[in-house]
Amino acid sequence: MKKILPLLLAMSLAAPAYADTPSDVEVLHWWTSGGEARSVDNLKEKMKKEGYIWKDFAVAGRAGQSAINTLRIRALSGNPPDVAQIKGPEIQEWGKLGFLASLDDVAAKQHWNELIPRRVQEYLKVDGHYVAVPFNIHRVNWLWANPEVFEKADAELPVTLDDFFVAAEKIKAAGYIPLALGSEAWQESTLFESIALAIMGPEDFRKAFIDKDTALLTGEKMRETLLTFRKMKQYTDADSPGRNWSDTTSLVIEGKAAMQMMGDWAKGEFLAANKEAGKDFLCIPAPGTANQFSFNIDSFVFFKNSNAGKTDSQRTLAKLILDPDFQREFNMSKGSIPVRVDSDMEGFDTCGKESMQAFLRAAATDNLVPSLSHNMAVGRASQIALFDVISRFFDDDDVSVDETMRYIRAAVLADNL
Ligand code: GAL
Repeated sequence: MKKILPLLLAMSLAAPAYADTPSDVEVLHWWTSGGEARSVDNLKEKMKKEGYIWKDFAVAGRAGQSAINTLRIRALSGNPPDVAQIKGPEIQEWGKLGFLASLDDVAAKQHWNELIPRRVQEYLKVDGHYVAVPFNIHRVNWLWANPEVFEKADAELPVTLDDFFVAAEKIKAAGYIPLALGSEAWQESTLFESIALAIMGPEDFRKAFIDKDTALLTGEKMRETLLTFRKMKQYTDADSPGRNWSDTTSLVIEGKAAMQMMGDWAKGEFLAANKEAGKDFLCIPAPGTANQFSFNIDSFVFFKNSNAGKTDSQRTLAKLILDPDFQREFNMSKGSIPVRVDSDMEGFDTCGKESMQAFLRAAATDNLVPSLSHNMAVGRASQIALFDVISRFFDDDDVSVDETMRYIRAAVLADNL
């Protein structure tokens, strides 16, 4: 990104005047699954009531990688959308390049400094100015279970990683898929992340992936993480390669698979299929991570625009996202918890309430970690390299642990290049 800075700046300065009307707001995002679409439709409706037209630019797939690639192409050609879904350290990357509009005035009026947890605020500001608005807090280290399959297999819900393998054997013997996984790089990394968290613990996890401690990245705990990760492969099904995450969740919904380790956007799929939390499906912490909370915060950024009407529509959207009613409605269907500290959790299902309690507990006990596989811990260069290395190791049994640890180290350091 650094190397293309002059080109990007030249192109953004040469950008043509916007031909669309001020009441339009074009939004680039990747919320296209059943649960995601339902959640974002609510926002589209609210914008309509305010008199604005939401022009949807949805790019499906790979937890946003395809959307971000499209965004880069559009921004490079001087034609960014008005709004885009960007999160984590990448907000800094775009902000430092001068693309993003300041939201300080909306933030001041709506009291963001008081409403948004400090840990979250860090991600939203560039040089002290707000440039992104957050929707939610997703927990990544969850396990989604179908209780009926567990019962039929006479298996216990796993609390530890050892328990996981005991249960998986029983489920396999009973003829079900123990672990629903789509072998896309980001889904594999999501699984890897929960195992790393269980084996390394939050402190070493942060030291390794954020402080880039090379001894930990190539140490014994990393070896154990990789071996445990690979061992899980035998409990996935033959149709796993390339399957998207929501079709993978459907396997659990339909009782073909017992478990999926996935962030709580998976709950959105259960709800969209009219399933009830605590009855038709269960949420438990990913094995070995009960006290920990790997967080993933969705946010929108707003591209600079000289058209006053545009700026109004952007600001209205930013304000609506933090509106207390929207926070509840959106997060109830999305599977995440509200980002506003004053949110009332009454009416949320058991998984939502548990997630909020887990978040508060983890925050108080230093057990919060930014998600490694969802762009919260590392920048884009490291993220892409990590996806490749982790996926190659999982997909090809001939790739050695030692070689993989060396590549993981290089991937984590890639952001410094
Ligand atoms: C994540 C995003 C979630 C969820 C998921 C799958 O990166 O933060 O909101 O939608 O991708 O699309």
